[in-house]
Amino acid sequence: MPQPRHFLDIDRFDLTTLRRILDLAGTIKSERANGRKRPKTATLMRGRTLAMIFEKPSTRTRVSFEVGMKQLGGHVVVLTDSDSQLGRGESMADTARVLSRYVDAIMIRTNDPQKLLDLAQHAAVPVINGLTDTSHPCQLMADVMTFEEHRGSIAGRTVAWTGDANNVARSWVHASIRFGFRLRLACPPALLPFRWLDWVRAEGGDLMLTDRAEQAVEGADLVVTDTWFSMGMKEAEKRHNELAPYRVDAKLMARAKADALFMHCLPAHRGQEVTADVIDGPQSVVWDEAENRLHAQKGILAWCMG
Ligand code: CP
Ligand code: NVA
Repeated sequence: MPQPRHFLDIDRFDLTTLRRILDLAGTIKSERANGRKRPKTATLMRGRTLAMIFEKPSTRTRVSFEVGMKQLGGHVVVLTDSDSQLGRGESMADTARVLSRYVDAIMIRTNDPQKLLDLAQHAAVPVINGLTDTSHPCQLMADVMTFEEHRGSIAGRTVAWTGDANNVARSWVHASIRFGFRLRLACPPALLPFRWLDWVRAEGGDLMLTDRAEQAVEGADLVVTDTWFSMGMKEAEKRHNELAPYRVDAKLMARAKADALFMHCLPAHRGQEVTADVIDGPQSVVWDEAENRLHAQKGILAWCMG
């Protein structure tokens, strides 16, 4: 039996496939934007159902996948720990086997990346990673799409990440190698992710790690940050203090290129990782970025389900 087309992590794909997914996303987006009365893509998912498993909260991922499936003519079923047998200990393997008999694809948001792999290993239908503690590939597809809509190809550009070295940052590392842009990552010394360098070097790539936000942002085409406290983490004063020098404020942003963009996957915490004047200012494209979750994921759905 052919293997289902899973969308697990950006590092698992070659550039051609990633570009194919983004092309699909762009085609579907422009068809609707052009106001066609009966977009051809409106039946792309007809008769298909996506199951979505949420072991963590979500606004964008949940709504964009649900609306995306419906706009393509399909259906969704949402499962959480509290309303499914997952909460009572049914394994991912058994859940995968059962859901595969009902639905055409499964999206999962979970803490442990091993659960994603277990699901994919035992599912007969495509599995999509909707965020784990170690990556967020759907977000990166939307982010690359957003940058390119505003500034053209991301290849050869310089992207600065400043803040926590979290799941989204790791997907930025994967994307930098696959899409061919320079990434500079600034974090407090204790959080610097040296462990990620092995993969980067094995791929023949380069990643600048620094504990100075100014060094990362200098001359960058794009500045990105994210929450200091990812889902599941407890707020702590020590961490607030450690991360404060990595906040994106107007002074830090001024070190980037004059036409640099600002991105944040959201939800944002104004006054913590970013100041209001930056996220609500003219360089910020966070609302386009959030919208593109919808379009990028339609490309992913179309690719996964052929
Ligand atoms: N950016 C993102 O994934 O948002 P949600 O947590 O709201 O899905
Ligand atoms: N790093 C954040 C991303 C939220 C979309 C988290 O995991 O909570």
